[in-house]
Amino acid sequence: MALRILITGASSGIGRAMAVEFAKEKNKIAITGRREDKLRETAEQIEKEGGEALVLAGDTSEPQTVARHYGEIYEKWGGLDWAILNAGISLRNPGTKFSAEIYKKTFETNVLGAAYWLEAIIPDMVKAKNGVIAGISSLAGFVGLPQSGAYSSSKSALLILLESLRVDLAASNVSVITICPGFIKSEMTDKNDPRDMFFVLDAQTGARKIIQAIKKKKRLFYFPWPLALPMACILPNLPRVAYDFIARRAIKRRLKD
Ligand SMILES: NC(=O)c1ccc[n+]([C@@H]2O[C@H](COP(=O)([O-])OP(=O)(O)OC[C@H]3O[C@@H](n4cnc5c(N)ncnc54)[C@H](OP(=O)(O)O)[C@@H]3O)[C@@H](O)[C@H]2O)c1
Repeated sequence: MALRILITGASSGIGRAMAVEFAKEKNKIAITGRREDKLRETAEQIEKEGGEALVLAGDTSEPQTVARHYGEIYEKWGGLDWAILNAGISLRNPGTKFSAEIYKKTFETNVLGAAYWLEAIIPDMVKAKNGVIAGISSLAGFVGLPQSGAYSSSKSALLILLESLRVDLAASNVSVITICPGFIKSEMTDKNDPRDMFFVLDAQTGARKIIQAIKKKKRLFYFPWPLALPMACILPNLPRVAYDFIARRAIKRRLKD
């Protein structure tokens, strides 16, 4: 049976790749993002693969936009089976030039943007005693990555929020899944120095891994393992003096450039 799926941030990158993969199984897919032209391109790909697309253009950091978008989904499909909260931004924010504005913008998109969707979708999923919510956090959420304090802490906030919800919603048969990817090629990472992109995957490979994890209802899925092992398991547990040494060495070249 066709699933009713929401993917936020599907105008490019991982979100678009997931939408195309889901379309191959003839699902109904609601896609969000600010750039309507890019969403229409994703919708075309969805329809070409045999899925049904619902384009919802707008800013996820505006609660009234999210409420309106969920209203449209509810009116058309009567609710959602799966929601993949993927929309996000990454803005470099070096500590020496710390900007509260960057911090605000990052949290408004990566954390509050997801929270507005959660507020909209949870009541109907709980009522239906059925639903899957997957949030795209990041391996960057396990440690405070240098030069990326706003991004790292926003992904950490999402990780912890989803963990809490996972326990709260289990009795209502709503699964909450946290996905923490490493580097995936996308518009977000196109600006990165390729020398810093360890074990990078293309968007389609990343999307397929994420979808598999969601289907298996993995509570917390991080990948690829050669990067996940140090980022999620080793670095967070080292004495902080050792972490500082490694992190400072890792950014030395970037600071020189
Ligand atoms: N690529 C990686 O290496 C990597 C690693 C770990 C986690 N992630 C996470 O994966 C998710 C997808 O990123 P990506 O790599 O696929 O990057 P991307 O190609 O830049 O995609 C980001 C998506 O989020 C949407 N978005 C951003 N701000 C938005 C807003 N205010 N309102 C609505 N939509 C918004 C963008 O659409 P519009 O621009 O059209 O609004 C776009 O569709 C992000 O949450 C990212 O943090 C990525």
